[in-house]
Amino acid sequence: MKVPLLDLKAQYATIREEVRAGVDRVFESQQFVLGPETLALEGEIARYSQTKFAIGCASGSEALLLALQSCGVGAGDEVITTPFTFFATASAITRLGARPVFLDIDEHTYTIDPSRVADAITGKTKAIVPVHLYGQCAEMDPLLELGRQRGIPIIEDAAQAIGAEDRGRRAGSMGAIGTFSFYPSKNLGGAGDGGMLVTTDPQHEQRLRMLRVHGERQRYFHKIVGINSRLDELQATVLRAKLSHLDEWTTARQRNVQEYEMMFTDAGLNGKFDLPLVRPGARHVFHQFVIQVREGRREALRAFLRERGVGSDVYYPVPLHLQECFEFLGYKKGEFPLAERAADETLALPVYPELTVEQKDYVVESLVEFFRG
Ligand SMILES: Cc1ncc(COP(=O)(O)O)c(C=O)c1O
Repeated sequence: MKVPLLDLKAQYATIREEVRAGVDRVFESQQFVLGPETLALEGEIARYSQTKFAIGCASGSEALLLALQSCGVGAGDEVITTPFTFFATASAITRLGARPVFLDIDEHTYTIDPSRVADAITGKTKAIVPVHLYGQCAEMDPLLELGRQRGIPIIEDAAQAIGAEDRGRRAGSMGAIGTFSFYPSKNLGGAGDGGMLVTTDPQHEQRLRMLRVHGERQRYFHKIVGINSRLDELQATVLRAKLSHLDEWTTARQRNVQEYEMMFTDAGLNGKFDLPLVRPGARHVFHQFVIQVREGRREALRAFLRERGVGSDVYYPVPLHLQECFEFLGYKKGEFPLAERAADETLALPVYPELTVEQKDYVVESLVEFFRG
């Protein structure tokens, strides 16, 4: 048996007709960039995310860049964020000449530890960027409160967390701006790259709409310097077809996690590894189902699963403060021990909505076999 980490072919088989009808519609219209499909998707994502405005762009990476620009981040500024995230969270900051100020994470949820943030704020702090890792929101209330007190905008990197909630509030709707990625492997993934920004602030909305088209307010009249970061119509139509299924897919992911947890107990696996912690009041959308394997056994488990045909992966093996390209920031190994431990010990297992009972059984059997050895 094979259990891939993600099976997009199984998903496509369930939505083929809808996707093809949308693609045909776009080809018939011959309107390929920022047309009616994008506009409709923007409305749908704004509603889905409980925000007022949504602005499509070319990727989650560029959504972050545009969000930071809209908050006025530039050379010499500081932006507080987590070192345990995908590279783009920090590279968007350095691309603008600003400095990422990393803080260690909460060891159970792997998201930024809000209790460390107040001490890290300086006169140069221009934004705080929590990352809703693996599909669960960072703890937002203390960050929102700090942001309010100190006049610092919060940008939510919700690339992995569309539809996630913190105490009933949707990912992306709590801070000044939220950013999404529609990379194909995301819970809502396109047929290529794509991204979106959400906000309830009309000033950000106007600025973001300009920034994604080279700062134009009116064709060929450039009010500010932006970039070309547009969402194309083929992506938008695919995403619209998929958005109508997102809640059922999320429910399937959550059900897979529940079933895994019952099966782990039945198989005597409790205590062999740590399970993901879902914070009270959270809607975790399980972009990834990540376990933590102690005693240096993570790599051996990964190799064992690979041999058995079970997909797994590490998100992320090198925390950002230890990336070669960020040496100039001056961080040292040992500075963020919880992020470093998470990088060494976490492992994502298959949790995609179309997983079958047999596949879950096989994953659990494989774990039992490994931990028996
Ligand atoms: C947390 C996080 N931020 C940003 C991104 C960047 O998104 P994209 O790949 O669409 O550029 C991703 C996804 O890859 C991500 O997981």
